[in-house]
Amino acid sequence: MTMTRPVKMYPADLLTMKAMGSKICMITAYDFPTAQIVEASGIDVVLVGDSLGNVVLGYDSTLPVTMTEQLHHVRAVRRGLKKALLIADMPYLSYQISVEEAIKNGGRFIQEAGAEAVKLEGGSEFLPVIEGLLRARIPVMGHLGLTPQSLNVFGGYKVKGKTKNEADRIFQDALALEKAGVFAIVLEGIPWQLARKITAGLKIPTIGIGAGPHCDGQVLVFHDLTGFQHDETPRFVRQYCNAFEIMSQAVRNYCADVQKGTFPNLKESYGNGKK
Ligand code: KIV
Repeated sequence: MTMTRPVKMYPADLLTMKAMGSKICMITAYDFPTAQIVEASGIDVVLVGDSLGNVVLGYDSTLPVTMTEQLHHVRAVRRGLKKALLIADMPYLSYQISVEEAIKNGGRFIQEAGAEAVKLEGGSEFLPVIEGLLRARIPVMGHLGLTPQSLNVFGGYKVKGKTKNEADRIFQDALALEKAGVFAIVLEGIPWQLARKITAGLKIPTIGIGAGPHCDGQVLVFHDLTGFQHDETPRFVRQYCNAFEIMSQAVRNYCADVQKGTFPNLKESYGNGKK
């Protein structure tokens, strides 16, 4: 990642980065200002995750997020990005019903919202969907391990791939997704040893979240790494600032100034003969 990325990123560039041994830096964003912030940092990849539901819309899981909500936020992020690769997460029920619906919904992210690729959760059971999307010229990112849309089936957000059977299945799914043509795979909530094995076994890059340091890249949720929310963060998050506290303090200072009558002062007012 560079501060001034010279060229626009496309999905194929991630393969080149893996081949060159350059770590891929990915983050989520959900609106215009956060897109501008992450673009200015020179980030490689921006995901409008369906974590939108948890961190922006106040739902207690990703399951209620709809196509309408997701499209609205992808469009806003598009307006704040120039060079970073923009990926739209396919929300629950947007790709599970039929291949046709998946293509229609995936295509809307490209055609109506300006995304350059989509991401979907799941393994070999979604190969027909992935193949359909690719036929429609929609690049696909996979997502294996702790896949939050399976919350009710998993019985909570638990680390996956701890047993040999589960680890073997995730590994086989990764191979199958690569063969089908996905350009990268997010590995979420799996032991680092398994993530290392998958990463070494694939030509396409792996992007880890709670999957240890051996992946080809990392992804974090913007609100987690900036401390933009109050909630406790999982152990895989490194919080780089406490935006919640910084912004709360700013609002407290503003209210105190209004109450004291020191805001606004005359320089902050019109009628001084200046424009
Ligand atoms: O929705 C999301 O933010 C994600 C990332 C955590 C990979 O899927």
